[in-house]
Amino acid sequence: DAKPIIAPSILAADFARLADEVGAIEGAADWVHVDVMDNHFVPNLTIGLPVVQSLRKSVSIPFDVHLMITDPERWAPGYAEAGAYNVTFHAEACENPVALAKTLRAAGSKAGLAIDRDTPVEPYLELLPYLDTLLIMTIKAGFGGQKFLPEMLDKVRDVRRRISAKNLEVRLEVDGGIAADTIEEAAAAGADAFVAGTAVYGASDPAEAVRRLRALAEQ
Ligand code: DX5
Ligand code: ZN
Repeated sequence: DAKPIIAPSILAADFARLADEVGAIEGAADWVHVDVMDNHFVPNLTIGLPVVQSLRKSVSIPFDVHLMITDPERWAPGYAEAGAYNVTFHAEACENPVALAKTLRAAGSKAGLAIDRDTPVEPYLELLPYLDTLLIMTIKAGFGGQKFLPEMLDKVRDVRRRISAKNLEVRLEVDGGIAADTIEEAAAAGADAFVAGTAVYGASDPAEAVRRLRALAEQ
């Protein structure tokens, strides 16, 4: 099995000091998770392409960009061109996920598909061969600091079963309410990439919080 990926979400960081906040987890974390929201796909607004382009120049950790936006076809390739390692768009916002995944790979990034709380994963299982990452939301997308929804782990189990059966190389990521008291059950369900906002940036020592989460995910 692949070693777990820990991806702190800067949504819970101090946006006035983004480069320093990312610097605080570089070395300890595998990816930094960048939540892009457009106040349309979700009722919240964060950062967009110019901030990602600037931040990319200041830090070296791989960027895991999570696009919570409508019209991802228009915007997603720009994040790949800006040097993002992985660009994930939402199933609910995209008519042709396979086409967009191909575009992203051609633009130089990995391609991820996200499944929000109220979306079943079953119709998307057949798309796994075209994806590098499948992100299962363990909350309703839009805000940090929400309570983890353990019933979402049924989706994680379904995806893990399919990845194993078909021997696919797809990262199975979970996002929302991941913390010391939830990461073990998410890992046991088959997740191998873990986004954590509050649990990392709400801690007095973010790097130490990442190491603790990793130790729990590895068990
Ligand atoms: C919310 C974002 C998450 C958020 C998670 O829609 O996709 O990445 O930062 O925050 P926590 O870890 O606090 O639930
Ligand atoms: Zn996210």
